[in-house]
Parts: sequence; C-alpha cells; structure tokens
Amino acid sequence: MTGYDVLAEVYEWLISDAKLPPAEFAASFDDVLNLLPSNAHVLDCSCGTGQLAVGLAGRGMQVVATDASEAMVRRTAELSEEFGASVRALRANWEELPEHFQDNTFDMVFCVGNSLHHATGATGRGAALESMSRLLRPGGRLVLTSRTWELVRARGSRLEISDRLVRRHGRDAVVVYRWEIAPRWEEEHHIEIAIAQVDATGLVLVRSELLSCWPYRYEELEVELHRVGLQTELSTFDPEAENYMVVASKV
Ligand SMILES: C[S@@+](CC[C@H](N)C(=O)[O-])C[C@H]1O[C@@H](n2cnc3c(N)ncnc32)[C@H](O)[C@@H]1O
Repeated sequence: MTGYDVLAEVYEWLISDAKLPPAEFAASFDDVLNLLPSNAHVLDCSCGTGQLAVGLAGRGMQVVATDASEAMVRRTAELSEEFGASVRALRANWEELPEHFQDNTFDMVFCVGNSLHHATGATGRGAALESMSRLLRPGGRLVLTSRTWELVRARGSRLEISDRLVRRHGRDAVVVYRWEIAPRWEEEHHIEIAIAQVDATGLVLVRSELLSCWPYRYEELEVELHRVGLQTELSTFDPEAENYMVVASKV
C-alpha cells in the first residue's frame, strides 16, 4: 500500500510554514546544492506536492520529479505550472525508476521528507536504494532525510494532535498523527494522518489516510547504502534529534 492519493489534496497542511515556498524548501539543502553546477541534472524521487522540485528548477537545474502517487505527481505538475518552472513530472515508484532512466543519469537524487520508510521492509528498501544508486553518475550524490525511528519506536503507539491550528488558503485545520508501533522493528507499522479542517460555521471536514511503513535503524541504513555502492559523505544523525540527513556519494 503506497497511499497519499487522499492526502495529496491537503498536503500543504503537513508542510511547515518555512518550507512551503519552493525557493525556501530548496534553500534548506543549500549546503549540498552548492556542490553542484547550476545546470545539474537532479531527480526528486518522492516529490510529493513538488515544492523541492520547483525550487530546484528555480535555480536553473534540470529537474525530474517522480512519485508513486498519481495525485502527488499531478500536484507537482500544477505547482510547476504555477511557478513557470520546467520540471518533468512522472509517476514511478522507486523500483520502476530504471525503466524510465538510464544508469548514471543524475548528479543528485533526493529522497527526502520521511519517504523511504514506505519501502516494504529491508528487501523493498534495498531495491529502492539500488534504483537510486543506479541512476546516479559516478561521484553523484544521494540526499536522504529521515525520521529518527529509534526515538519514534521508543515512544510507542500514540496519538499526536497539533497544539495549534494550521492555516493554509485561509482555512484552519487540526493535524492528527496516529502512530501504530508494531512489537518488532521489521514488522509493518502504520501512521494514520488526519487533517480536520474547521470552517467559519464550525463545520469539520476530515481527510485522512492510513499509511504503511517499515522503520529502520540508522546503522541498518548505513549498511544498506554501502551495499548499493554509496559511501556516506555526511550524516547529521543524532540519536536525540527527531530527523537526520545523510549524503552518500556513488563510488
Ligand atoms: C511524507 S511524503 C514526502 C513528500 C516530499 N518529499 C516532502 O518532503 O514533502 C512521502 C512521499 O513518498 C511517496 N512514496 C511512497 N512510497 C513510494 C514509492 N514506493 N516510490 C516512490 N515514492 C513513494 C509518497 O507518495 C509521498 O509523496
């Protein structure tokens, strides 16, 4: 189960204020983007609603944006049009990527914003990382961001309700995450995300989706990256921080 076709409609309520403008989303990766020529070939392989892809295109890069969700790809294409950005957007899950692109095509591949945990277990994750690695040119880099699952699992199953309303397009919503943590790391976990919009008359409109995910420890990820020919160049992993970024280059 991939999901996100329902959430795609209301995904901006899940993106922080700071990252909503495409230029700002891209700027959050300034340190790695500075390693690239301005017309670099880049792929965002879990593009969501396209903020990063459009931000990268705004810097003059040649951008391809892919996602497993048709609705997400549509939203990326709409955002590109709105910003007059040149982004090639297409639906493909990670394992299908080599059917669409030749090996050694991209200078940088992005898999960001808590996407990789949707790959089905260690086998699915290995296949996804293998695809990403194949598409990178030698010396090219994979940029991956992740939740710190060590922390998420330690907290156990729970309900997380936003402590303030999130306003987008003049509409307020409460955002709810329901975490279903399985007893063992390798089992399928679930996150149910609900966006409850409240209109001026007090009417509540809820959109929600149950997503499957397979967590991984940081050490496992490192091993899996190396197995597909990627060498960790930079890592912000800190067992006490909520998220981390790994930059790995193709040997
Ligand atoms: C949490 S969203 C992150 C979106 C975006 N990168 C961001 O930071 O806002 C996860 C994305 O991964 C996509 N995804 C899930 N499974 C996938 C797969 N097997 N192949 C490609 N994309 C996938 C989802 O459709 C969704 O758009």
